[in-house]
Amino acid sequence: MAESTARYLLQISDCHLMPDAGQRFRGLDTDETLRAVVAHAKGLDIDFDHVLLSGDLVHHGAPDAYRRLLQIVSPLPGSQHWIPGNHDERAAMRAASERPLGRELVRCGAWDLLLLDSTDAPDGRGSGSLSASELEWLDQTLAHSHERPALIVLHHNPVVTGSAWQDPIMLGNADAFARIVDRHARVRGIICGHLHQHQALRLGQVPVWSAPSTGIQFKPGQRDFMLEDDPVAACPGYCVYRLSEEGGIEASVHRVEAR
Ligand SMILES: [Fe+2]
Repeated sequence: MAESTARYLLQISDCHLMPDAGQRFRGLDTDETLRAVVAHAKGLDIDFDHVLLSGDLVHHGAPDAYRRLLQIVSPLPGSQHWIPGNHDERAAMRAASERPLGRELVRCGAWDLLLLDSTDAPDGRGSGSLSASELEWLDQTLAHSHERPALIVLHHNPVVTGSAWQDPIMLGNADAFARIVDRHARVRGIICGHLHQHQALRLGQVPVWSAPSTGIQFKPGQRDFMLEDDPVAACPGYCVYRLSEEGGIEASVHRVEAR
């Protein structure tokens, strides 16, 4: 009997690279922490099928910062995909690479990965939404199959986390998104960034994971903005997902001593 083959995804999020190399973001050289994350992930010796860069890849959408980002992540195994976050500039991303910005369907063995752009209708404070066409594409693409397990990737968290300053800047039209997810039983997981903290949440029956930033982390459950002060949770980090052929997902978070 043939052995079932698991697939592996690497999620890298909220890198916040500065316009010029060597500039610091809240005291941290985010080029250096991203390099440390890439070296750590390579050291796992996992043959990643795909690398998912889930938004806020640079802090101020400078084209040079995207080119530096692509150069820093280039040693990673697997095909690479990106989506924008609220700090990103779509035009600068397009200038740096021809890869899609959302509405991307990636076949990954038995799985479908659906990458979405959640930066429509920004509120200027960090929130963003899925456009009507993004929602329609999601609904129609999920309807193509009833059997293939699906994983959705977007920047903004589609569920609250109990953080009074972060909940108002989550996905703006989370209700519309939730109605679509609810219609398609093949959605087995949702992954996001934006929170700068690792969370394991749920949208109905569907698990939702947020990845930590590759740079600065925010402390969960706060009334006002606060940087993480736990010495482990404050470290740069990333997530790995193991997708089984039968439709199961295992998520793991990894931390890098780089501060
Ligand atoms: Fe961010």
